[in-house]
Amino acid sequence: MIEVVTGDITTLDVDAIVNAANSSLSGGGGVDGAIHRAAGPKLLEACRKLNGCQTGDAKITPGFELPAQWVIHAVGPVWHGDARRESEKLRSCYRRAFELAKENNAASIAFPCISTGVYHYPKRAAAEIALAEMRANESHFERIVACCFNSEDAAIYNCLMGTN
Ligand code: APR
Repeated sequence: MIEVVTGDITTLDVDAIVNAANSSLSGGGGVDGAIHRAAGPKLLEACRKLNGCQTGDAKITPGFELPAQWVIHAVGPVWHGDARRESEKLRSCYRRAFELAKENNAASIAFPCISTGVYHYPKRAAAEIALAEMRANESHFERIVACCFNSEDAAIYNCLMGTN
């Protein structure tokens, strides 16, 4: 089941939350900062052992002090008008995150709107990719959450899902 939730991803009671990270995996602002603050300093220690992560890929750590058991750190692309195949890289982020979730037996997973903050990926185009990958993985999970931080993002997802 795919659900659209408006709120803070760090509070969600799911097996895995996905982080919109950067390739250094050393924390940042936005949802990355919020996840590191809520998980505690052990998350940064765990991330430092991963040797970074390429754009379009994802790596997994425990959730430490989060309600979620796992954090899947996905590195989305910076938007350059799709000149650098950003759409493929964004799709690959979602695919890799789902693969890692399945490998670690997560039955529920929540995603933020990867790349649509400081990386400036157009929101609707990003949501179309996110929803296509969520639908492709729907049968493998009890719950897939599109976690929107504001009502504007939630409206885009709800519109694409035909639920408003
Ligand atoms: N819960 C859910 N979503 C959140 C939260 C939160 N606590 N905080 C922010 N967001 C939302 C933003 O509103 C945006 O829709 O996450 C989405 C992604 O925005 P960013 O966090 O800016 O991520 P992104 O655009 O992928 O840029 C990644 O930002 O913080 C750095 O280290 C990160 O360098 C990386 C870059």
